[in-house]
Amino acid sequence: MCDTTPVMIVHGGAWAIPDDLAEASVNGVKKAVCAGYQVLLQGAAAVDAVEAAVCMLEDDPAFDAGTGSVLNFDGEVEMDAVIMDGHDLRAGAVACVQNIAHPVKLARMVMDKTDHVLIVGKGANQFAKEMRVETVPTEKLVTEEAVRELEYYRKYKSTVNSLFKTRDDVLGHDTVGAVALDCMGNLAFATSTGGISAKRPGRVGDAPIIGCGGYADSKVGGVSTTGHGEAIMKICLAKNIIHFMEQGLSPQEASESALRSMAERVSGSGGVITISNHGNVGKHFTTERMAWAWLKEGQMHYGLNPGEDFVTQYSVQ
Ligand code: GLY
Repeated sequence: MCDTTPVMIVHGGAWAIPDDLAEASVNGVKKAVCAGYQVLLQGAAAVDAVEAAVCMLEDDPAFDAGTGSVLNFDGEVEMDAVIMDGHDLRAGAVACVQNIAHPVKLARMVMDKTDHVLIVGKGANQFAKEMRVETVPTEKLVTEEAVRELEYYRKYKSTVNSLFKTRDDVLGHDTVGAVALDCMGNLAFATSTGGISAKRPGRVGDAPIIGCGGYADSKVGGVSTTGHGEAIMKICLAKNIIHFMEQGLSPQEASESALRSMAERVSGSGGVITISNHGNVGKHFTTERMAWAWLKEGQMHYGLNPGEDFVTQYSVQ
């Protein structure tokens, strides 16, 4: 039964996005939110909408996911992605996967075609081969920005511990994500990332971990997170937000409370996007910037810097 107003929200990562990527980041999230919203308007499921939106963000070199992924310490691309259907809590994820353009699609295949939730590394690539997912050479996923970032961070022994605790000297960009509420009243989320520049090979962040990189429960709400993965995992950021919403907080209050608690308990910074099962939206970030956009009833809201909330009419893309 189609009696719920569809809502779509996306983010393009919470970090100190450099000025030369600012416009591309805003344009990218606006395009992706329209792509997801269009899927919802056709009456499709939330899980299809988040997959479509995240696929588009993975194709956009402005973001750290798919094409545009940052490089690990050895100069390799290792990507993590997750998708979850809040209707029945089904989920699929991949981690440390290489040489594919759309890790979110592979995560969806894990959800739909296996008994597992998370497949990593060599196993994830073997599964991709089994599913006949096209491989792409690493160079196709690597941008000049990612190479510059690796050079910058390589001089520090541990990017995560020494640089990502404070926001002031953090360059670059992060994870992408989407949350959708469909006309049947179901919620879904998807998150995809290349991780953190100069990470150790084999390092997995929060993104593919259910309850950390996101969560969707159609009885409560949906969340996608971005930011300092090690901090996000320690406090299970997404599930924390769901918990606050269950206690009666609005999506905005829950998002702000959870990020405040992450800063207080583990000195972590990041960003979140949230939709409640009633279609109310929350978004918050404790980094310098986060590109975000949401769409409901034909009105698009978007922004990049703290306090921004631009509004424009949705037009079919
Ligand atoms: N939030 C992405 C990561 O830490 O890998």
